[in-house]
This record gives sequence, C-alpha cells and structure tokens, in this order.
Amino acid sequence: MKLKHLEGLLGDLQQFSNPKVELEQYPTGPHIASRMIYTAENSFDDISGKVVADFGCGCGTLGVASSLLGAEHVVGIDIDPQSLEIASQNAEDLEVGINFIWSDIKNLKLRGPLVDTVVMNPPFGTRKKGSDMEFLCMALKVASRAVYSLHKTTTREHIKRTALRDYGAKSAEVLCELRFDVPQLYKFHKKKEVDVAVDLWRFVP
Ligand SMILES: C[S@@+](CC[C@H](N)C(=O)[O-])C[C@H]1O[C@@H](n2cnc3c(N)ncnc32)[C@H](O)[C@@H]1O
Repeated sequence: MKLKHLEGLLGDLQQFSNPKVELEQYPTGPHIASRMIYTAENSFDDISGKVVADFGCGCGTLGVASSLLGAEHVVGIDIDPQSLEIASQNAEDLEVGINFIWSDIKNLKLRGPLVDTVVMNPPFGTRKKGSDMEFLCMALKVASRAVYSLHKTTTREHIKRTALRDYGAKSAEVLCELRFDVPQLYKFHKKKEVDVAVDLWRFVP
C-alpha cells in the first residue's frame, strides 16, 4: 500500500469523542501515524508478517495502520473501554482483524516471544508523572524485535539513558524529530493547538 493511501484511510478513522484529560487522550494524526508505521515496515521490516501490539491504542490508529501494512496479528491495549469500542468499530469499518485487551499497561501479562513489535504513542507523562516510562518499560519487556514510540524531545537524554541502562534495550535511536499538534482538547490550553516537539524512537529490546 502506498503511503498516501494509508494516510487517507487513517484520516477517516473516528477519534476520541470525549477525550479524558487524565489519560492524555489525543490522537496521533494520520500524517504522523502513517509515516511512523510505514517507516517501521519499509526501512526495518518490522510490521508485515509480524505480531504487533499497539500500547495505549486509543481509537486504534497505529494498530489499524499495522494491519493495513500486513501485520500477521495485531493486539490493541488500552485502559479506557470507551476508546476500545471506537477502535473496534474503526477496525470493523476497514475490515481488519484486531484483538483488543482492556488493561492498564503496567498490569499487562503478555510476555515472551509472542509479540514481535510494539507501536505506541504513550501519554507524555504530563498528567501522571512517569506514565511514559511505564509504557516504555513494559514495551521493552514484551517486544522481541522492536519498539516504536513517540516521546517529547525535551526528555531525549533521560529516555535514552533509562532505556539502555535500566530497561535492557540493546539500542535506542531517534529516527526523526516531529512537530506534534496536540489539539485544544483541554480547558487549560490557551491556544487552539499546542505544538510539541516529539521524537520518533526505535528501540531494540
Ligand atoms: C496519546 S493517546 C494515544 C492514542 C492512540 N494510540 C493514538 O495514537 O491515536 C494515549 C492513550 O493511552 C491510553 N492510556 C493512558 N494511560 C494508560 C494506561 N496506564 N494503560 C493503558 N492505556 C493507557 C489512553 O487512554 C490513550 O488512549
């Protein structure tokens, strides 16, 4: 599938109707999501024929993109049942088979060589300090091949050091720096959109 086609399909997905501030529910837009999964597939061969887990899947964008690019099996995990309902509808609309698990990431029981690749846009940790690191720690335990994740650029050194030293990653590489538009979902945002510099990472567990 061509990149533009993928981006177009992701642009039609339903997104959070009532985003929950405490869970940092803002979607990965179709431009970034399509490029993230396309790069994972075309530059690293980490998607097609692989078992992919979408951590904090929200409305399912990254998992759906992985399925569309030929993942053998996709599982989406989120703590919020309402998001999982939307994600399930999105998967049905595009006729892709995804399994969903309702769980807090820190309690996830998936282990071993079952999952090849984890893709995620975790909470940045602005509402619950350390939630970004909880996601990364679990992703590196679960994935056997690669972890793709978005983190604020301001946390770059901390992410790298912690992944390599404390979470046992073999490598931690920033693939590119992006501008991430967090829509004005929350009353405390004064501007229409909050523009955040974000790194796209690839970790090898
Ligand atoms: C920034 S949103 C990303 C949503 C989606 N992955 C996307 O890319 O559009 C973060 C997601 O993580 C979920 N989340 C937050 N804390 C969580 C936790 N402890 N366990 C599982 N999911 C969580 C939220 O419900 C939300 O769907």
